[in-house]
Amino acid sequence: MRKSFIAGNWKMNLTVTQAVELAKSLVKSVKDCPHRVLIAPNFTCLDAVSKVLPGSPILLGAQNMAFAETGAYTGETSVLMLKDVGVQVVILGHSERRSIYNETDEIINKKVKLALTHGLEVILCVGETLEEREAGRAIEVVNAQIEAGLKDVTAEELSRVVIAYEPVWAIGTGKTATPQDAQEVHAAARAKVGELYCPKCAENLIIQYGGSMNAGNAKELMAMPDIDGGLIGGASLKAETFLPIVNYDK
Ligand code: 13P
Repeated sequence: MRKSFIAGNWKMNLTVTQAVELAKSLVKSVKDCPHRVLIAPNFTCLDAVSKVLPGSPILLGAQNMAFAETGAYTGETSVLMLKDVGVQVVILGHSERRSIYNETDEIINKKVKLALTHGLEVILCVGETLEEREAGRAIEVVNAQIEAGLKDVTAEELSRVVIAYEPVWAIGTGKTATPQDAQEVHAAARAKVGELYCPKCAENLIIQYGGSMNAGNAKELMAMPDIDGGLIGGASLKAETFLPIVNYDK
């Protein structure tokens, strides 16, 4: 039985004061939640937010990480630095990293392997553009990103990988994939992991949906057999909009 995993990606929003305030209000409300819950503040907020979380089941995530461990990489943040401030999970391969910062599957794969080597959990984001969807290539694109992102990742390491299917055209646009369309891609992604690893590995894999997920659509998305969680952007920035998604089954 897979455990639902609801994650908030705060992206480049919130000052330290605002992030701490939001984290505190989530800590108060998320106590006996049956799901895994994660928040991913930006780098400057990680340390302060980590100090709010002890004793809470809420996990601390980072939104990105350098592909190298240490050294002359101006502006980058190392896996060692993330671990130092208590980060447990890192989001890698987000479409904004791929499209705005030209991160390739090779770079993302380097980051995935480095994070796993250091014991972090990884949320590997994949997803097609509108053009690719309209050309009937959504599954092909997603499966290629999964295969490349997981290159040389062992089956043991895979147990610390979550895949987030985020159709690029649904991110921040208010357009959500229909539960059926998302389910189709999730099922194909799971089958792909089964092919690359083993049936059991595929069965245990958590696959989140991301892209304009909100309180109004979370329940029907989460009702799909292969949708195991959500990676939420805009709606994760306020407790009033994030908590109903965390509590989608209440
Ligand atoms: P929105 O929920 O704002 O569409 O963002 C989704 C996302 O990119 C989460 O990583």
